[in-house]
Amino acid sequence: MHLLTFAAAIAAALILPVAAHAADAPVQVTLDAAKSGAVIDRNIFGQFAEHLGSGIYGGIWVGKDSTIPNTRGIRKDVVAALKALKVPNVRWPGGCFADQYNWRRGIGPDRRPGVGEPNSFGTDEFMDFAQQIGTDAYISVNLGSSTAQDAAEWLEYMTAPADDALGAERAKNGHPEPYKVAILGLGNESWGCGGSMSPDFYVSEMKRFSQFVRNYNAVQPMKRVAVGEGGGEPSYNDAVMKAWKGRSGGWDIEGLSLHFYATGGWPPHLPSAGFDEKDYAALVKDPIAMDGVIKTYSAIMDKYDPEKKVALAVDEWGAWLAPSPGSNPGALVQQNTQRDAVLAALSINVFARHADRVRMANIAQMINVLQAMILTDKDKMVLTPTYHVFHMYVPFQDATFVPLTFDAGTYATNGITLPRVDAIAARDKAGKIWIAVTNIDPKSPVTFSVSLAGVKATKASGQTLSAPKVDSVNTFDASNIVAPKAVSAKVTGAKLTITVAPASVTVLGLE
Ligand code: AHR
Repeated sequence: MHLLTFAAAIAAALILPVAAHAADAPVQVTLDAAKSGAVIDRNIFGQFAEHLGSGIYGGIWVGKDSTIPNTRGIRKDVVAALKALKVPNVRWPGGCFADQYNWRRGIGPDRRPGVGEPNSFGTDEFMDFAQQIGTDAYISVNLGSSTAQDAAEWLEYMTAPADDALGAERAKNGHPEPYKVAILGLGNESWGCGGSMSPDFYVSEMKRFSQFVRNYNAVQPMKRVAVGEGGGEPSYNDAVMKAWKGRSGGWDIEGLSLHFYATGGWPPHLPSAGFDEKDYAALVKDPIAMDGVIKTYSAIMDKYDPEKKVALAVDEWGAWLAPSPGSNPGALVQQNTQRDAVLAALSINVFARHADRVRMANIAQMINVLQAMILTDKDKMVLTPTYHVFHMYVPFQDATFVPLTFDAGTYATNGITLPRVDAIAARDKAGKIWIAVTNIDPKSPVTFSVSLAGVKATKASGQTLSAPKVDSVNTFDASNIVAPKAVSAKVTGAKLTITVAPASVTVLGLE
């Protein structure tokens, strides 16, 4: 049998009739330790926290007077859980919300509520939250309904020294030291909720925002991310990159955004729990399709930026499913199952394979909204299967991609054909090699036989995440239905052999 790359296997899986795959035939994987790819930027493990539903209010912010344990109004349980993920950056305050946000109503002692927005969690509270969980701030400014001057003043408030007028206002509000803003978003979905702008109109606006919305805190260099297309025709990407190539004057960007949601069809209709195998496969195929979208957009960027100076920032991704029964549809509440765990692993693997161009990504969203890490209900909190995948993948942050070759085989159900397995590997800064394997097939276990020629290792150990059913969830009362278990494997004759459960994600470090 030919050894195919994962991408080739996807193509084959989508075109060819289904080939039977013997249940007990091990998947032969070859690790090419002599070769290395790009660094998997830790920022691809970024998160997104929007003022939407209970993503902020209830999920992060409970207020200083709450009976829920908090530090200056921010939930202690949530902070402890997020710290363990080593979250590299959090994108805030939106999303679509960002293009209607008035930052001035959310600072100082005199908060001015808007409709459905108390503004009690504003800039200083977000920066406190970022500091508590140890993450970088990715601030999305309002390019849709405000001015470049207003956004410039917001950045001045955050980053200028305390002897500047707005820096002094920040100091009066309790923070004399300038904040660090690592990433600046220049609008959000400006082709849609961010102002329905044509590509050319957006480019003109974006250039002014890029030039005048300055970072005054030299300790923290700031990257700027322009809006790119959201999965439709890529005219924004072309317009922004063409302008970037011909740029003159004082503007620049370091990133171009892509939003890609796994939905199994629009509008979101797949149930987030209580689904069957058909709905499992219907959703899991989307991260595989994302590989193609990234290739298309990368090719456009390559035309203007062959040196890959501008990163593709997939700053909204994840599963967008039917709202949980009985919930407010606008709050985007959905359950999180083992299917989400498989989807998260496959998506991260796609980003890792494109690590030379994809250097940022933000899962939507962090808490209580869409494919969340954490669900809360008043004082209760539960970690989702997606949380566990992010935790297991921590060793891949800033590790160097190491190529694997394997025949992904096929898994087919209800007219949908997918690769049967996926796998990536990387070498961390200490030289340790990590391998992540995903068994997409929800019915059969899979044995991986990994050839490790040239690598000194006697065993591998790590964690595996599987579940009784693909739609198993963790609940507030039964929070460990889907939880990682320790796993180890022997290396014999330069071969690592491990059998993993159906629909599972496993991460192993070679020792
Ligand atoms: O994540 C939910 C919404 O999806 C965001 O506000 C918007 O940017 C996207 O359309």
